[in-house]
Amino acid sequence: MTKRILTGIQPSGTLHLGNYFGAIRPLVEMQTRGQVFAILVDLHALTTVHDATTLRANTTNAAVDFLACGLDPERSIFFRQSDVPEHAELLWILSCVTPTGLLERSHAYKDKVARGLSASAGLFIYPVLMAADILLYDADVVPVGKDQKQHLEIARDTVIKMNEAFGEVLKLPEPEISEDVAVIPGLDGQKMSKSYGNTIDLFGDEKPIRKQVMRIVTDSTPLEEPKDPDASTIVDLYRLFASPAEAEEMKAAFRAGGTGYGHFKQRLFDALWDHFAPMRAQRQEILRNPAYVDEVLRAGAARAREVAGATMARVREAVGLR
Ligand code: ADP
Ligand code: TRP
Repeated sequence: MTKRILTGIQPSGTLHLGNYFGAIRPLVEMQTRGQVFAILVDLHALTTVHDATTLRANTTNAAVDFLACGLDPERSIFFRQSDVPEHAELLWILSCVTPTGLLERSHAYKDKVARGLSASAGLFIYPVLMAADILLYDADVVPVGKDQKQHLEIARDTVIKMNEAFGEVLKLPEPEISEDVAVIPGLDGQKMSKSYGNTIDLFGDEKPIRKQVMRIVTDSTPLEEPKDPDASTIVDLYRLFASPAEAEEMKAAFRAGGTGYGHFKQRLFDALWDHFAPMRAQRQEILRNPAYVDEVLRAGAARAREVAGATMARVREAVGLR
């Protein structure tokens, strides 16, 4: 049987190069390995976004961007979490077997409390909603970054609890922790992240993106002096877009001296801008027809509900609802 590969996408605003190489491209590639379920997790986003216009816009924008990058809605099941009410229903049933101690140990929750912020009940049960996302579709594989490993363990523990209490009703998902996905550096050389304000946007106008590239932090080696290509964010990012020969050429020019950082940044920008040209064009095409995105998500939700509905029938039967 075809493997079911499932992932959740937080619709959290403007995407950057780290998101593209760390999450979007791997997801697009996975479409050749099995049946992909890609969920825009707007119910999860509600734990942090409390503005209707923002949440709706973020969700639509994320859908547009993922489609532009090659998520194929014919091949994959791409939908909004809130369009499938079974997520919230299964969340409740699971939360009746999930020990609170397990959730108290969750990093996301603990970090927030440690920073002195008051956590909502929604944030507390966030991992249980994530478990519902996975378990509704009998997912075989859940590819996630290291930061989500604990959430997956909670999902697995929840399956064990459910099956102990009610018989073999849910399928145990296998995590696939992507240790080998490179961390993309940001403008300051740290991990590129929204929260560090060091990002280069994936989509946007030429001028602001060029400006971001020009802000990459460098040392003060004068133009004529040799420069170290092995400690340069410019080279690290250029490698993502250039052929191995082109990358070697840039490294040689670093070592030779006589070329300023501004010039290398310009080369990086040109390579990046060309690389994403087809996706930018695709995005413009999608934006010309706003109804298209809604249609895609509605059709995706209809396919998702067939699977989620069958799981819920099984779960309701097993726990004694109706
Ligand atoms: P941010 O750190 O900007 O808030 P998110 O945590 O929303 O980004 O990440 C969304 C996805 O993008 C995750 O799968 C994450 O692993 C991936 N990702 C984010 N930043 C990077 C990066 N610098 N390098 C590789 N992958 C990244
Ligand atoms: N918690 C995940 C994140 O922050 C998003 C997510 C929600 C998810 N539901 C999921 C990931 C199900 C994988 C499977 O990135």
